[in-house]
Amino acid sequence: MQADKLLVNFSQIFCPNDLGHPLRGAEMDEAQIIEHGYIAIKEDKILEVAAGEPSASLIGKATEIVDYSGKLATPGLIDCHTHLVYGGSRENEFSQKLNGVPYLDILAAGGGILSTVRSTRSATFEELYQKSEHLLNEMIVHGVTTVEAKSGYGLNWETEERQLKVARQLNEDHDIELVSTFMGAHAIPEEYKDRSDDFIELVIDEMLSKVKAENLAEFCDIFCERNVFTAEQSYRLLSAAKELGFKLRIHADEIASIGGSKVAADLHAVSAEHLMVIKDEDIDLLSEANVIGNLLPGTTFSLMEDTFAPAKKMIEKGMAITLTTDSNPGSCPTANLQFIMQLGCFQMKLTPIQVFNAVTINAAYSVARNEKVGSLDVGKQADIAIFDAANIDFPMYFFATNLVSQVYKAGKLVVNERQRLE
Ligand code: NIG
Ligand code: FE
Repeated sequence: MQADKLLVNFSQIFCPNDLGHPLRGAEMDEAQIIEHGYIAIKEDKILEVAAGEPSASLIGKATEIVDYSGKLATPGLIDCHTHLVYGGSRENEFSQKLNGVPYLDILAAGGGILSTVRSTRSATFEELYQKSEHLLNEMIVHGVTTVEAKSGYGLNWETEERQLKVARQLNEDHDIELVSTFMGAHAIPEEYKDRSDDFIELVIDEMLSKVKAENLAEFCDIFCERNVFTAEQSYRLLSAAKELGFKLRIHADEIASIGGSKVAADLHAVSAEHLMVIKDEDIDLLSEANVIGNLLPGTTFSLMEDTFAPAKKMIEKGMAITLTTDSNPGSCPTANLQFIMQLGCFQMKLTPIQVFNAVTINAAYSVARNEKVGSLDVGKQADIAIFDAANIDFPMYFFATNLVSQVYKAGKLVVNERQRLE
């Protein structure tokens, strides 16, 4: 069959294995790495990926051939945990952070997430849309083609709905595909101070069914943390969400270990997030229950802490992990997934193969888009990131610089020479 596009002469092509489940344990050490190869695209899909030169049968009169000598190709990167849609920013808390004021103390004093809740409640749909679009534009030039986006800066129906509708509209309008998560239980709103059970009831009884009825989110998430929501409240909310057909995630073991991982394992959540202070026995629980660990080393970095999630140990114990930004205005204000991948190497001592598997095939499973993206298997959507690098080691070693030069989304060139094409 003739290709519409032939991307030729890559120095290296990174092809993760799609084994029908997230790569776990030693599977994360494997991938097909093609030296000097090409990618053939037909319409929006991968037609062929192989070493050497394309055969004549792939080339027709209309075939566009692009020379990518010296470059690396990987599947489009997937950022599987972000708090994309929000109002305002929080640089005003930066000096407190520098002076060592803990994240949860800033929250307890009405700042942190609650400060962003105030800015988000007062922002219009258009304001939220523009701000989120700007972030997506930054993400795509860094090689990201699919993004998970959580609500959770409304904590009331009106604003949660607005956030989710912004994400839905951007999914229509932007080249990046968005996967929505409802996170109405992200903090205890000021009007429910000391009445967190009542707030959980409100989220369960009034918000969940509306999200479902309007089909505004596919996943449900909650912040299970000391002084935020307990493991019991998390279990209650997530089991109600599961009954309604939501897939589950949970922010667990970020600052204090209070049972969130066990909730994830018991309810067979798709993923558990953060896991910086996870206990060894909870790693075993997540591993046995096949819960993906979505790890966020940029959050440890940005909180100026030194406890990173024990990624190596998780892999040794058979878990599947991803790396993701947590992009949000407080604990990780960034749009650069490449830097997070580098932290995976520099701080967690992951190998480049483990890192690229984490942000491609495993992240695709984490957002339930594994049948469509996450690898370069024939028939998958042609989402491709192209790096100014001869191999996968280079973009890990040459840090804090955007090395993505081109991005294809569904077969279409959407970033060229590091610039987004409109
Ligand atoms: O994943 N930990 C809870 N939520 C976010 C932070 C949100 C914020 O600080 O605005 C996180 O780190
Ligand atoms: Fe988060």
